[in-house]
Amino acid sequence: MISRGAVRSACIVFLLFANRLNADGMKHKLHVSEFGTTQGGDSIGRFVLTNDRGAVAVVISYGATLVSLRMSDRMGRAADVVLGYDNLAGYEYGKSYFGGTIGRYGNRIAGGQFPLGGKMVQVSKNDGPNSLHGGTTGFNKRVWAGVDRSRDDAQVLELSYVSPDGEEGYPGRLQVKVTYTLPAKRNELRIDYWATTDKDTVSNLTNHSYFNLSGVASTEILEHELVLHASRFTPVDSTLIPTGELRAVSGTPFDFRKPIAIGARINHDDEQLKFGKGYDHNWVLEKSDKPGLQLAAEVFEPTSGRVLEVLTTEPGIQFYSGNFLDGAARGKGGELYAYRAGFCLETQHFPDSPNHNNFPSTELKAGATYHSTTIFRFSTREK
Ligand code: GLA
Repeated sequence: MISRGAVRSACIVFLLFANRLNADGMKHKLHVSEFGTTQGGDSIGRFVLTNDRGAVAVVISYGATLVSLRMSDRMGRAADVVLGYDNLAGYEYGKSYFGGTIGRYGNRIAGGQFPLGGKMVQVSKNDGPNSLHGGTTGFNKRVWAGVDRSRDDAQVLELSYVSPDGEEGYPGRLQVKVTYTLPAKRNELRIDYWATTDKDTVSNLTNHSYFNLSGVASTEILEHELVLHASRFTPVDSTLIPTGELRAVSGTPFDFRKPIAIGARINHDDEQLKFGKGYDHNWVLEKSDKPGLQLAAEVFEPTSGRVLEVLTTEPGIQFYSGNFLDGAARGKGGELYAYRAGFCLETQHFPDSPNHNNFPSTELKAGATYHSTTIFRFSTREK
């Protein structure tokens, strides 16, 4: 019987060895170290991806979580543009999903129940009457295995996790792989997701990064200007479950087809904004006839000049304006994260799809492969 301590030591020796490789001049290798040890005794790796343009992404093997992303402002000064914690305990006990990989099902499933293959499936409920972000212990709270897959033109981290049959109530043993890719010459972070199952199941994976493009995470994100390439959204009930309607955004505070500050209409007297305590909704992305990546969202932060473009193969995007941040979470550098100090753009299939036949299907058949891609692309501009 190999003790946990021995496994831990072996992991640390491996990590140190991996770093020796860096020191020995294998330029394209990731920098690897230990981020911490979980309460259960698992050693968690910290992987640093860098490029020739000064961008740095840091990902940990706990939750396949993006913990830091440094990008330049219009003066060339780099700053961290995502929220997170300084230590592993923050991620283990935190409830905000900062930077985590979300699965098996991103967002909500009504009553945690859905029909599949003529039977009702019951998954764990962790958000009032509903299931949220994969249930009580979602993929963001699991220990993943990390492997360096860097190439000459990009640094690449591959993370994998096997979700056993029945985990959180979901049928099928799901083998999941996520890669983070930072190209040497471009300031963009690409995330690819793959999954296969041995029984029919559902799969809807995403990343839950909170962005604050000002680089100052103590500030509100209400001045950021947003564009969403969507003319419809999926309105919700008071528990944030879609009603099934695809509603036109035209004439509502949900119309982001032209750039407008996130805060411009967030306090309007609108039932949907009340249900979400701000924006916490899924937009139906405009799809051209071409398959593949499409531009879904653009965000501009006026003081820093940073621009974020989000491209995805997914049909939907959850724009969440950080309405559950309440100033209690102490984030990186001991910063208290205020109400609406970050926003999320979660590329996804629509919430509660397994209960809506008119939504694109999230079913993954035994033997089939799920694949989804999202790119967060950064640049700067003047006003
Ligand atoms: C998603 C949900 C929100 C909230 C956050 C995490 O964006 O739609 O309602 O649960 O995750 O706090």
